Amino acid sequence: MASARQTALRAATPIETADPFATDVLAGLSAKPKRLPPKYFYDAAGSALFERITQLPEYYPTRCELALLRDNAPAIASLFPPNCALIEFGAGSSRKARILLGAAATVEAYVPVDISGDFLQQDAAQLRRDFPHLAVYPVVGDFTQSFAIPATIATLPRVGFFPGSTIGNFEPHEAAKFLRHAGAILGHGAVLVIGVDLVKDTKILCPAYNDAEGVTAKFNLNLLARINRELGANFDLATFEHHACYNREQNRIEMHLASTKRQKVKVAGKAIGFRAGETIHTENSYKYTVESFQALARGSSWSPLKVWSDGFFSVHAIRNQESEVSSRN
Ligand code: TRP
Repeated sequence: MASARQTALRAATPIETADPFATDVLAGLSAKPKRLPPKYFYDAAGSALFERITQLPEYYPTRCELALLRDNAPAIASLFPPNCALIEFGAGSSRKARILLGAAATVEAYVPVDISGDFLQQDAAQLRRDFPHLAVYPVVGDFTQSFAIPATIATLPRVGFFPGSTIGNFEPHEAAKFLRHAGAILGHGAVLVIGVDLVKDTKILCPAYNDAEGVTAKFNLNLLARINRELGANFDLATFEHHACYNREQNRIEMHLASTKRQKVKVAGKAIGFRAGETIHTENSYKYTVESFQALARGSSWSPLKVWSDGFFSVHAIRNQESEVSSRN
């Protein structure tokens, strides 16, 4: 009879030794329809390509959001309690937070939370030089999970910041779950400033995800290049196309990689078959109206405070109504 230790080892081995990237990729490519998790877009090459996307003439969200933040920074900052800590979810670069920090003189601490640690540390050093009175505490981690706020600033009132319409990359039920999670971290009565891309004419929406230079296509295809690099797969990138289209029923841009022919690909030792035209669904970008986002917020115990919009993009300030006791579960 196997000892308890042997049994535990046998049970634990596949889980502990398996690379989560390989596990997720194989599970996604074995599903029907095929899909891949978008979080794997952002390796070094993917992050650099995404930075280029934000500068494309067709990709309006970043420019619109930056202008909304600049034009309304004093009004946004007036909603912050004095001596607060600004917590940014999925920070990437602090470019947008800097606009708020410049207008909100009493912010005492800035806590950018991001999975990409190197970038976060470099950026923190520059921020400390530019804002000498600001305490900067980068947290390396997944912002959808709980994370520890450093003890020295734990008693400060908190303001949340979630720009980039990253909320749109969640399924609506996940978006609601994230808003509750943010409420639990920020506390009762806290303000969250959140950027949300708006439903609009497909003549503007579609080119934003199908740019003429093909940078978005490269970004999408980099996922297959990464699987080749890291999992020893043999995707022929010339036989996959980037497709992005607006799904009107679901109010979302869908990103796919379509196989141009019937073929078999080897991924981590497993053969994956593709029909001609078969796609891998890689990302959604949900679009909201001002009202549909406010309804989502209300359903997750947040009340709308104020919204700034240029008709293309919106920046909302919402207040957490969840009581302290239930939000700290
Ligand atoms: N949050 C961004 C958005 O939904 C992310 C994004 C922009 C994106 N372009 C992309 C994701 C292309 C995948 C592919 O607009």
